[in-house]
Order: sequence, then structure tokens, then C-alpha cells
Amino acid sequence: MSQETGGRPATPKTCVIAVGNQKGGVGKTTTTVHIAAALGEMGRKVLVIDLDMNQGATRHLGIPSESFLGAYEVLTGEEQPEDVIVTEEDDGVDLPKGVHLVAARRNLEKVDKALLSINKFVISQDVLLKPLQSLEGKYDYIFLDTAPNATTPTIAAYKAAKYFILAAMPDPFAVAGLNDALTDIQGAQQNGNPGLRVLGVVLSGIDGRRTRLANTLIQYVEKQFATSDGKSAKFENTISRSTVIPEAQKDGKTIFQTAPNHKLADQYRALAREIEARLGRGLPQVLPAAEPTSRQADEGLAEEAVANG
Ligand SMILES: Nc1ncnc2c1ncn2[C@@H]1O[C@H](COP(=O)(O)OP(=O)(O)O)[C@@H](O)[C@H]1O
Ligand SMILES: [Mg+2]
Repeated sequence: MSQETGGRPATPKTCVIAVGNQKGGVGKTTTTVHIAAALGEMGRKVLVIDLDMNQGATRHLGIPSESFLGAYEVLTGEEQPEDVIVTEEDDGVDLPKGVHLVAARRNLEKVDKALLSINKFVISQDVLLKPLQSLEGKYDYIFLDTAPNATTPTIAAYKAAKYFILAAMPDPFAVAGLNDALTDIQGAQQNGNPGLRVLGVVLSGIDGRRTRLANTLIQYVEKQFATSDGKSAKFENTISRSTVIPEAQKDGKTIFQTAPNHKLADQYRALAREIEARLGRGLPQVLPAAEPTSRQADEGLAEEAVANG
């Protein structure tokens, strides 16, 4: 029997991973949908929940704007997640293999007001807990694609996720966005989600002939985002810069659909394998952060490792 911890089973089968950085245009959405597609190709069942009112993941996965109910309805409790999940069986959609989506619409910006009027006792930060609980066991991975600003859906993602992937591209503001995200991760750890762990930092848009900006970012992340066992939280597999990404994005597809043999598709495959390896080995804490609060979380990781093979 799994013990309950704040609405989350201590040993979940479904791995809930938020992807973030408090800055826009640094590769959060691209990272989310491509890791999802890579894991889907490996036979995993993956759900992406788009929590950004700018609908990056929804568009990238080719879903026409405003065509499906989604995150707003789930967060306000108007709909059960299972009733709004977009799958390959829906008309006119072409999702990557193994990937489902809870779409975002513009109405996400009004979710705060809606929550207040529905029930003043609903804690808006916790609105993802119940929906995720109802999906427990139905997916191997649920990815939460977040907005760059601390909107309610994004804060709810920090509160509900078990793991956090930080995304960054060589951008003058990306580092500040990483640090802000780390501060919010600590905030979530200290306020209701003590088990939240940084899974790692994904760096994309890294040129073959590295620019100074790229080198600075790599060095900074290697130094600042160290784990308590002295290793870097940066994933070894980085993603190169290539026009295949914006081209695929324009078509509402991942490169697993438009260019499966491209070097970048292989980089995402390697990254997906690295992610599974990290999940399997148990995660040391990324510094600086709160001490692990219970052995339960670590035991959970070990069991998850067995479940994930
Ligand atoms: N590896 C890459 N090579 C080239 N362009 C990329 C790469 N990864 C992301 N991009 C581009 O960078 C821009 C921002 O990416 P996006 O994932 O939308 O960021 P965010 O979700 O953080 O706002 C997009 O136009 C995307 O196409
Ligand atoms: Mg985005």
C-alpha cells in the first residue's frame, strides 16, 4: 500500500515532471514536447499538460488554437482530465507516437478569477493535485509545460510535480530565469512539496562552434547547479542549434515526425535515455536546497527505479 503524502502517493507509477525557467524563449516548450516524443518512441505512455496561456506546447503539437477544452477546465474542476485529453484518435490531429495532450487556451489567464468565484476555499496553488491523482498509473510520464511568469497554473505545477527539469538556451537572461526557477523550487519544497527534486538542466541551441554566450551558460550551469554528491545537474546530452526545430514548430510537429533521422532527434533520444537513467539511480539534491525531509521519498525513488526497469 502506498502511503499518501499531501495527496500524492509516496510511490507513484506516474512520473510527474515540470519543465521550467522564469524566462520566455529559452526552450521550455521545445524541450518538453521533444523529450515527450522521444519517450513515446521508446514505448512510454506520455501526457503533456500545457499550462501556458500562450499555448506553446498546444501549437507545437499541431492542435488548432481554441479547438479543445483543456487545462483551464481541468484546473477549475469543470472537466475531468480524461474527458479533455487529446489523443491520436481525435479528428485532424497528428500527435507524436505515444504522446497525449491536455491543451491550453487563452482562458488560462482567467483561471484565478474563476477559482475564486467557484469556491473561495479552493487553494489555487493546489489545483493540479486532484487532476494528477486521477491520472495516476495511466501514464508513465506527465510533463507540465509552464509559463515564464509565476501564474497560478505554473505555481500549481511547482506544487504538484515530483521532478523539475530546468531548460535554458544561450540567452543573456536565461541564467537569471534559471536562478528564479530554483528559488521557486525551494519555495515549493518549503511549502507543501518537500519531495520536489531537480532532475537536471537541459541546454539547447548550443552551436557546434560554441559561442561565448553558450560557453558562459555551460560553465555557469556546471558550476552553480551541482548536486550534493558533487556532480553537475546539467544533462550530459545537450541539444544543438538547428533550423529543423523552428521549421517543425511552424508545421505543428516535432522533429520525430518531420526529421526522425536528423542529428537532433538522436540528441533528444539520448537525452530521454539519460533522463530515465537519472530517475533510476535515485537523485542527490541539487544545491542550494532544503534537506531531504524523509527517507520515504528516497525509498520511493528506489521503487520507481525498479518499476521503470
Ligand atoms: N535546438 C534549437 N535550435 C534552434 N532553435 C530552437 C532550438 N530549441 C528551441 N528553438 C527555438 O527557440 C524559440 C523558443 O523556444 P521555446 O521552446 O518556445 O521556448 P519557451 O517555451 O521557453 O518560451 C522557438 O522559436 C524555438 O523554435
Ligand atoms: Mg513555452
